[in-house]
Amino acid sequence: MFKFPKDFVWGTSTSAYQIEGAWLDGGKGLSIWDVFSHTPGKTLNGDNADVACDHYNRLEEDVQLLKNLGVTAYRFSIAWTRIQPTGYGERNKEGVEFYSKLIDLLLENNIDPWVTLYHWDLPATLDMEKDGWLNPNSADYFAEYARICFEEFGDRVTKWTTFNEPWVTTILGYGFGNFAPGRTSNTEPYIVAHNLLRSHGKAAKIYHEEFQSTQKGIIGVCNNCDWREPKTNSEADKEAAERALEFYLGWFADPLYKGEYPKSMRENVGDRLPKFTEEDSAMIKGSCDFFGLNHYTTMLTENDDRENIKNDADGFGGMDEDEKIILSSDESWGKKTTMGWNIVPWGLTKLLKWIDERYDNPEIYITENGAGFDDKFIDGKINDVERIKFLDSYIKATTVAIDSGVNVKGYFVWSLLDNFEWASGYSQRFGMHHVDFKTLKRTPKESAKWYRDLIKKNEI
Ligand code: GAL
Repeated sequence: MFKFPKDFVWGTSTSAYQIEGAWLDGGKGLSIWDVFSHTPGKTLNGDNADVACDHYNRLEEDVQLLKNLGVTAYRFSIAWTRIQPTGYGERNKEGVEFYSKLIDLLLENNIDPWVTLYHWDLPATLDMEKDGWLNPNSADYFAEYARICFEEFGDRVTKWTTFNEPWVTTILGYGFGNFAPGRTSNTEPYIVAHNLLRSHGKAAKIYHEEFQSTQKGIIGVCNNCDWREPKTNSEADKEAAERALEFYLGWFADPLYKGEYPKSMRENVGDRLPKFTEEDSAMIKGSCDFFGLNHYTTMLTENDDRENIKNDADGFGGMDEDEKIILSSDESWGKKTTMGWNIVPWGLTKLLKWIDERYDNPEIYITENGAGFDDKFIDGKINDVERIKFLDSYIKATTVAIDSGVNVKGYFVWSLLDNFEWASGYSQRFGMHHVDFKTLKRTPKESAKWYRDLIKKNEI
């Protein structure tokens, strides 16, 4: 049995595009995900999030679900296009009022709002007119948007995340192109990552210098990382696994905590990896008040020593070619989630220890962890035992890390509701609440009850 500290944060996470719907309401502008999902062939079954969970029109009901869970925190994102429809210029009053209302409802119910400023839904106008994240000036646009949010909500919001999973924005959005804006390149991911880090740095500087002393909040980034386990005991595979973690998490976390990209990246990527100016490096280093981690799975990693691996400018060079690794799964790990992701709880323990050591014992919040399964109604109930088992095992894996001195301060389940799972559309159910996407009715699954009991006991 493990007893969590009294102030351990128990939460659940969502994001704007995945749940809000109301894609043309309240003065909202279009985002790159609106455009992408409306482009034939880009999402499974042509699904889009025009309606999604219709959360925009169901705030009271959804806050009640959170209340029933007993969570102490709720992590959601603000759609930039609701605050500034084109990504720049005047603030849109209706958008501000919508999030203000949500924040007030949460606080009335003793739920701490954890706000993410960017969960992948860049204003499409910024992309069309100004090359989106490829433009170094994106940092100024983002900082201005962040400032509006600090001004409007910072009197009540004290937990800020600038970026959710910058790795996904860069690799899936600009490398593989299977996420918005759908570009494929072996160079652009590095440019975009660089601009995201600079954007974070600028926004965090504004928060720290102009708002923190009065608003008393914290700001950070939520990075995602899977664990990479060496496939064999060979030195080459051990180095490959380490390199893989550096290319995944170190890419973003090293600049944030050490002021520069990992050595393996500088060596392997060469000229395609931008360099920080001294000023940018100083601005980015030390700019996070907490370490946000999203974690889902683990893969075996072996060294790829093939000569002349494909590395052309039209294809994606990052993961396969620059990293020089080959990923695989261990059959003994058993059944996977419906996303095809391995269930390996000890991977989380190892990753937490890796972070703890590399970044000098930061305060870590697991800002996303969860699983997609084929949930079925039987006699009016969804007994999602696989999800309960998944959450139970990953939370236990977290306690093993805490026991060895890792400073984990909170845990958020992805997700509160079944929602629009990006390119996979509505085929993947991650929620502790089932959503019928025809009637939009919400039904708590057994995992919701299980999580509520865990939070109440505060022990596992
Ligand atoms: C994360 C992402 C979420 C959600 C989840 C499940 O990468 O932040 O938006 O989709 O994965 O795939």
